[in-house]
This record gives sequence, C-alpha cells and structure tokens, in this order.
Amino acid sequence: MPVLPSDASVVHLRSGGTSVVVDLLPGSMPSIVHWGEDLGDAPHDTLVSLATSSRLQRISGGLDRTVRLGVVSTAASGWAATPSIEGHRDGEDVSTLFALTGLHATDDSLELHFADSEAELSACYELRVAASGLVRVRTTLRNDGAGVYTVQALHTTLPLPWDATEILDTTGRHLRERSAQRHELAFGTHLRESRRGRPGADATLLLAAGVPGFGFERGLVHGVHLAWSGNSRVFAERTPTGESFLGAGELYLPGEVRLAAGEEIATPELLGSWGDGLDELAARFHGEWRARPQHPTRPRPITLNTWEAVYFDHRLPKLVALADAAAEVGVERYVLDDGWFRHRRDDTAGLGDWYIDETVWPDGLHPIADHVVAKGMEFGLWFEPEMVNPDSDLARSHPDWILRGRTDLPPSARQQQVLNLAHPEAYDYILGVISAILDEYAISYIKWDHNRDLVDAAAGPGGAARVHAQTLAVYRLIDELKATHPGLEIESCASGGARVDLGILDRTDRIWTSDCLDPVERLENQRYTALVVPPEMMGMHLTTPHVHSTGRTVSLTMSGAVALFGHFGIEWDVTTLSETDAAAVGAWVALAKRVRPLVATGRLVNADVADPGLDVRGVVAADAASAFFTITQTQTLISSPAGRVRFPGLDADRTYRVQLVTPGGLVQIPAQSPLEWAHHETVLTGRQLAVVGVRPPVQNPQQSVVVELTAL
Ligand code: DGJ
Repeated sequence: MPVLPSDASVVHLRSGGTSVVVDLLPGSMPSIVHWGEDLGDAPHDTLVSLATSSRLQRISGGLDRTVRLGVVSTAASGWAATPSIEGHRDGEDVSTLFALTGLHATDDSLELHFADSEAELSACYELRVAASGLVRVRTTLRNDGAGVYTVQALHTTLPLPWDATEILDTTGRHLRERSAQRHELAFGTHLRESRRGRPGADATLLLAAGVPGFGFERGLVHGVHLAWSGNSRVFAERTPTGESFLGAGELYLPGEVRLAAGEEIATPELLGSWGDGLDELAARFHGEWRARPQHPTRPRPITLNTWEAVYFDHRLPKLVALADAAAEVGVERYVLDDGWFRHRRDDTAGLGDWYIDETVWPDGLHPIADHVVAKGMEFGLWFEPEMVNPDSDLARSHPDWILRGRTDLPPSARQQQVLNLAHPEAYDYILGVISAILDEYAISYIKWDHNRDLVDAAAGPGGAARVHAQTLAVYRLIDELKATHPGLEIESCASGGARVDLGILDRTDRIWTSDCLDPVERLENQRYTALVVPPEMMGMHLTTPHVHSTGRTVSLTMSGAVALFGHFGIEWDVTTLSETDAAAVGAWVALAKRVRPLVATGRLVNADVADPGLDVRGVVAADAASAFFTITQTQTLISSPAGRVRFPGLDADRTYRVQLVTPGGLVQIPAQSPLEWAHHETVLTGRQLAVVGVRPPVQNPQQSVVVELTAL
C-alpha cells in the first residue's frame, strides 16, 4: 500500500498543456482545485496558497464545516449534491465515508487509496493527465465485507470554472444524431441519461460548459465524455455553495451490480478536455486516441457499402457489376451489407442465423468475395451479432437466449430482439458462427450493426438486469474476434450513429456516423461528432444524388466536399453512372486519397461564421505546412455577394499559396462576374487568412469549394 507523505498537502499534475491541482488537506476529502490551462512551473508555496484560497468557509444555515466537492464525495460527509458512491447491503449499511489511506503521485498522475472501515469498502481513485492534455479519471470500488454490497451509483467528477455558465450538449434521433443544443448552466443538475443499452441517437457525446457564447475558435470551455457503450449518466451541476462540476458514471439498473466479498467494480473512464474554443478541446481527444497503439494508421481505404445500392436485393451479377464500377472509380474496400444470410430476404427474419443463404448464394460468398479481391479491393461483411429475429432458427431453438424481463418478449423493434451474450452458450454460438465465416472468406472488415434499444433487458422472466453484463460481453466478443483475426477492422454501426462512444471506439476502427447521407444534414452531425471522435474514424460516404433519407436532391460537389472530412466512401449504385458522372466521382475519390493523410493526422478547425447559410471548416497539418478547407453554402444568403470568410488555425507568420481544387471546378452563375482571386494565383499569410479572410466563391445553395493551402 502506498504511504501518505506528511508534506503532501497539494499535488500539481501537468502534461500536454493541462494542469490539475489537487488539495490534499489532511482530514478532508482531496479536492481538485484546478483543471485546465497549464499553470506553469509554479513554486510549491504558491500551489499551497492556491489550495488554501479555494477552501470554503462556514456559512449561516449550513453545516459547521462546509463540504466541498471531493474526488469521492458521499452523503455521510455532508455533501448534499450528487454523490460519487451510493449503495447498500440489503437495504442497510447505506452510509459511506472514505478516509485517505495512501497515495502515489507522479508528474502527471495521481492514485488515491481510500477505506471506509465501518462500511467495509475501499476505493481507488486514479487520475492521469495524458500527453494530449486529456484528463482520464476512474474510480474502483471494492467490497471488503463478507456480505454482498449492492452498488447503486458510482460517479466521477471534474470541476468547472465558476464562470462556465453555458452548456453545450447533443441530442438527436435516427437520421439526425448529435444535434447541438445550448442552454444556461443554472443552479441544480442538468442530467443526461442513456437508458437504451447503447448510448442512443439522442445521447450527448460530450457534455461541455463554457463562458457564454464560446465557439469553435475561441471561448474557454471544458467538456467530458464517458467511454462506455451501455447505460450512462452524464451531468453538469451548480451548487449554492459555489461549486460547479461535470460528472458521469455508468447507470446501473436495479441490482445490476452486486459485489460479493472481495469483488470490485470500476467506473468507465471519464475523459475530460478543455480549450480556448471547441477546436482545441476536440484536438486533445483526437491526439489521445491517435496515440493508442491500436489506432488505425494505414490510409483509410475508400469504402463502397452496398446498402443503399441494392438493400436486401442480393443478386450476384448486380453485385459483381457494382464491384467493377467501384474499382473503376478507385474504391479500395467493398462491404456487403445486410441480406446475405439465411432467411434474410427482408428485415423481418433471419437475424441470428449466420450461415450463408444457399437460395441466394448457392456457391457461398466465394463468387463475390473472390471477385472483389481479384479487383484489388478488400472485402467486408455486415453482421448484427447481438440481435435475433423471433422468426429465425436461432430463436426457435433457443428462446431462452433472448433478453427479457417478463414472460412476454419486450416490445419489438425492427422485428427483432436482443440476444443475451452474457449467456455462455449464446456467446459461444455467436463467436463460433462469425469466426467460421471469417475463417472461410478473405474478410478484412466487419460492419457491426446494432439496430435496436435494449428494453427490459433481463436474464429471463423475473430475472436480473443484464445491460452491464451485455456491454462487457460485446466488448469481449469484439476483442476476441480481433485477437484471433489479426488485421480485422470493425465498424461500429447502430442504426447509423446510435453507438458512438470511446468505449466501443477503443476496440473498433470507425463508426457509421449516421444513416443520413444528406450532406446538408451531415455538416452538423459530423461537426459535433468530431468534438470527440477523430475524423478518420468517422464513416462519410458520397450519397445518391436523390437522398434516400431526406428526399432532397443534392450536388455531387457538396456531397464530396462534406465527405472529405472523414473515412471517405460511397453509398450509391455506381453502376448507374454515366461516363461523365463516373469520372466526376473518380475525381472526388482521387482528392479524398490525396487529403486523407492530412485528415488522419492534422488538426480539425471550424470557423465561427456569422452567416448561418455558410460553413467553413478545414484540416491543418500538424506542422501547419499545408491545409485544406471547404466552404459550403447550404441556403441562400441575405448578402450577395457573400461577406468574407476566414480560415483559422494556420501559422500566422507563414505565407500560403491558396488554390481552389474542387473537382469539376467553380460553378459560375451567369448573372455574376467571376470572383477575381479565385481565378488567379493567390498568396496570403496565415494571419491574413485568419483575421481578414476572403470573399467565398460560392453563390447559391448546394455549392462547395475545396481550397488547398501550401506554405511557401
Ligand atoms: C442500419 C445501418 O445503419 C445501415 O447502414 C444498414 O447497415 C442497415 N442497418 C442494414 O440493415
């Protein structure tokens, strides 16, 4: 057990431009005094003063000792806001109060050990400031008693500056995930819960709070993300004792976490970032994720997914023609979506029967898989491993493998139910059938779908809740398939982007960002998803010009420009293209290949634009030697011509050659004369571009231009 040094009254952790200062006042729960901007190499006595000057005084009407937010705050200390730990032993032993028993601190990490000898519990609190400047926090609770301890809640928190009074979070629905909402951080709790057994389309990916009006370029903002794919609670709280904080934890269903003697449970990691503007906050998430050894670093293969091209209508000649046309325009990965397995002629049947449908594929998938590989592309396949249709051989032979809390099945969604993967035989069956297909075919990619919420997810009629166990079983299944199939990449899809979190993205290679491929809609969806998810992990595809989900007709130019900011692909029947259109698609694919190294390593920047009809975003290389931006007009503008737009994030002191590289060139409206700079050699400094900007060469909705910048 680490020892508690007598002089350790304050610790200062620093890394990646972030400081965390923790007050270790003896006899008091340790408390984070500061999380955010690096405070530099501050002398110890100033840190002690910083800690002292943050302590609370006694107040009228309060306890004799005012309780502050600690790293493990419980009600028995007098803390009256959301506690870090709640639980009981069969309705008793509800009181918990932890005393520090040891600590271990380095320059960038802190481990605190606590014990509550009366409640017979111990806790370990770990905080690390990563090289990216991201803060990672976790608490582990252990039952030291002889009987079972039921954990009701386990949260971790990070403090906010008191003047962070505006909240940004996201909500959404199928086809419109991660729509931003802003509101005041008032006194009380702003609580976002996910009770869907997956984060859900309406989940907030990030809960952020900042100074009023904070934007992408400027304004101090702090935010947290919980790296977990099951149920969760994320909250922002402001107390009448002058405390403001962000917190999160797994949401345990009743009785879901019962610790036997000696057992422990850890919170999912709470990841905290901050920035002068959201772009800086996002860059820490991206930097952290990119630094992981398992991060996909080879160029993201241009992907064609068959779903919107053929849906369930699987016919070999058509799918072969699609592969040919895909290869022709430069596709590198071909993914066969839903519809290839037994009984799956539509979405009413077949989930769980993971055997090739002999009626549609009499020779197995070999003809298509071999053809794809012969064309020089990788072959990918769709699965929905956690699901089962009641109309399937699997459900008929193992009805007890379906998650349910009652005799009747839970409400149906897309005619399907959820398989209990915490059931060892169900788990082995799924692992076995998927492995068999991976072993037979040259499959290097799985599109792993999850098309319904978990409702009443229990181990059987009258049984125990299973969301926690299910989430861990899914993680284990993915980890096991990856370990036994080196090089296998997995996409996390859930009716589009309903399972987007860094728990799943720690073990998969990309998300399907949304089923909505409409670039007008995707602009916001992608912008807010990228607050946490590195762009190269976000699937972005060219859409059919007549968008299936919105009915809008969109230009290839806009579709292409929007898709450049992620893992580029195509969701379109490219066999129907004229020669001219195929060449145009090929030009976008070529551009995506050129910019993808930048997308995967550079810094994403979003200009705070005054006109709601204009969108300006870009990626700037880590060394700022190159960049590309897109300017997209989504609706008519009140001014004509449009006011200037700026390109932030470049090196202010360097001069850049500014070139328009939009495939297909500029669209020129007859009534307007050409914009002078767009047709001549243009050189501007990074400062001029960020501060003054240029007139955008767009004139009508649905126009996008791609601007490449190269430092001279
Ligand atoms: C939902 C996904 O989001 C789609 O892309 C597609 O894979 C369908 N499921 C297939 O059923």
